[in-house]
Amino acid sequence: MFRSSRSRHRIISAAASRTLTLSAAVLAAVACTKSEPADSPSSSTAEGGAASSDALTVAAAWRPVDDPDAVAAQRARADAARGAMFASLLGELMAAIDAGGHASAIDVCAERAPAIAREVADTQGVRIGRTSHRLRNPDNRVPAWAADAVDRRAAEPVELIDDATGTFATLTPIRLAPPCLACHGPADALADGVVDALAGRYPDDTATGFAEGDLRGWFWVEVPDEPDTPT
Ligand code: HEC
Repeated sequence: MFRSSRSRHRIISAAASRTLTLSAAVLAAVACTKSEPADSPSSSTAEGGAASSDALTVAAAWRPVDDPDAVAAQRARADAARGAMFASLLGELMAAIDAGGHASAIDVCAERAPAIAREVADTQGVRIGRTSHRLRNPDNRVPAWAADAVDRRAAEPVELIDDATGTFATLTPIRLAPPCLACHGPADALADGVVDALAGRYPDDTATGFAEGDLRGWFWVEVPDEPDTPT
């Protein structure tokens, strides 16, 4: 595990250095990902079942964080994991677009995104993904703890703690940047071939028609109480 963690860190670092050449607007958004580390985060009774197999086994009791300082270490781990996933996804997306255009990048995304999410989850000892009120990939459905925040379209970060286990959970908004329009914009902004590629992969897609600056969705991260990150 340690060997593979290091190798993943090298990959993530390579992707991160690439992102330095991209605009902050692009960095505010992560392009293609399947936001699921392994299983579904969607049911409150199954929230321990995904990439971090040692997660929750008892009924969750989520409440807002009342002492922000008390979760500083978990928040830092969430931020690190989100940054790693973001860098890796964005690096691979940009490389795929460069190599073959947007329509073929959709295929790359569909295959690499779930793997990246799993790698980051394993490496960082968290559960992580992305979700939306207008999903492209139905597997990216909303974790149970995030449902209220998604319903009210939370435009600011949300932090919750599970009284039952001490797991920290956070949701952070993702806004649409100009480079996203080619795959998430209105019909006249979609790149060549994207409509057909989406119809093939995601017949129930609801993730086009966004404008720059729109709330596209959220990153979510769950960080267990124990500091078990294998770095
Ligand atoms: C090459 C086309 C492409 C581009 C460009 C792109 N996306 Fe996506 N996006 C996808 C695909 C394909 C998925 C579904 C991937 C999956 O989860 O399997 C997706 C999924 C998502 C999701 C996860 C929620 C869901 O609906 O499944 C979010 C959030 C998202 N994109 C935001 C963005 C943002 C923000 C940008 C701009 C930085 C962007 N995307 C650029 C193709 C693209």
